Amino acid sequence: AFITLRQLLDHAAENSYGVPAFNINNMEQGLAIMQAAAKADAPVILQASRGARTYAGDIMLRHMVTALVEMFPDIPVCLHQDHGNNEATCLSAIRHGFTSVMMDGSLEADMKTPASYDYNVDITKRVSDAAHWVGASVEGELGVLGSLETGEAGEEDGSGAVGKLSQDQLLTDPDQAVDFVLKTECDALAIACGTSHGAYKFSRKPTGDILSMATIAAIHDKLPYTHLVMHGSSSVPQELQDIINAHGGEMPQTYGVPVEEIEKGIRMGVRKVNIDTDCRMAMTGQFRKIVQEKPTEFDPRKFLVPAMDALEDLCRDRFERFGTAGHA
Ligand code: G3H
Ligand code: 13P
Ligand code: NA
Ligand code: ZN
Repeated sequence: AFITLRQLLDHAAENSYGVPAFNINNMEQGLAIMQAAAKADAPVILQASRGARTYAGDIMLRHMVTALVEMFPDIPVCLHQDHGNNEATCLSAIRHGFTSVMMDGSLEADMKTPASYDYNVDITKRVSDAAHWVGASVEGELGVLGSLETGEAGEEDGSGAVGKLSQDQLLTDPDQAVDFVLKTECDALAIACGTSHGAYKFSRKPTGDILSMATIAAIHDKLPYTHLVMHGSSSVPQELQDIINAHGGEMPQTYGVPVEEIEKGIRMGVRKVNIDTDCRMAMTGQFRKIVQEKPTEFDPRKFLVPAMDALEDLCRDRFERFGTAGHA
């Protein structure tokens, strides 16, 4: 059945587990994630970006996710708008069956310019009021995602944020977080702690100076009843880099957020963990492998089935390690 983010994360908080939020664009990703959830007996957050809505179309997404819910009747599913940029994006998502929306007011509606605090509070509060009138949940974001190593927003964040970001933009301030949640009444809060979107997060295995788990602990200490969200939480596993690069890929060596750091975050109050890049890499590794190993192959299913299997394995692992397994 469909459930809201609030219902799902309240249960996660009561039972001290985290929930991965996987980005979805097409049927194959949907089937792979749901098959993993069924095997792990885990509730699911499927999130669609603005790009995903344009790619598949709102009508297709709604029917696709409704079909997945019908195919997997024992799995609770939250359909969430990822990085909504304004009121229209969030409200049209709800109209198309999303049970939860992210109003990302950390950036202006162009998703490039860091926004003022007052802008963020005002727009998030407006979306929160409207969403709550119709029973949908809201995720806000305070702080701008970006690298503490370079001060840049990251390569594939879909925003192309301009200019260098300062340290205090890159780490969410705990006192401001309290004020933000009181004023906006958001159900979940995305925080900045040194992660960034895309594959190129860190130039080395992250330590506390570039991945600030202490920020999460400080926010959770002041806001014990707000569900914290970690964006940019792909682990960019070495084995996926290796599969891609062994089959003609040219991804420069890079480091993501180690799963054990996410597990630590979940113990510190993180409830929603956003993962897109790892899913892309799992599928692309198989596409590349089959292109190289079977040059005579031209049936798309022969590419898609192994790609789905690799995605299913990745999702299953995250459901197990985040403690989501067994909670459907
Ligand atoms: O936050 C970005 C997500 O990875 C979605 O990416 O906008 O390319 O669909 P996208
Ligand atoms: P990754 O690029 O680390 O997978 O992050 C995805 C994300 O935060 C989507 O909102
Ligand atoms: Na989101
Ligand atoms: Zn994100």
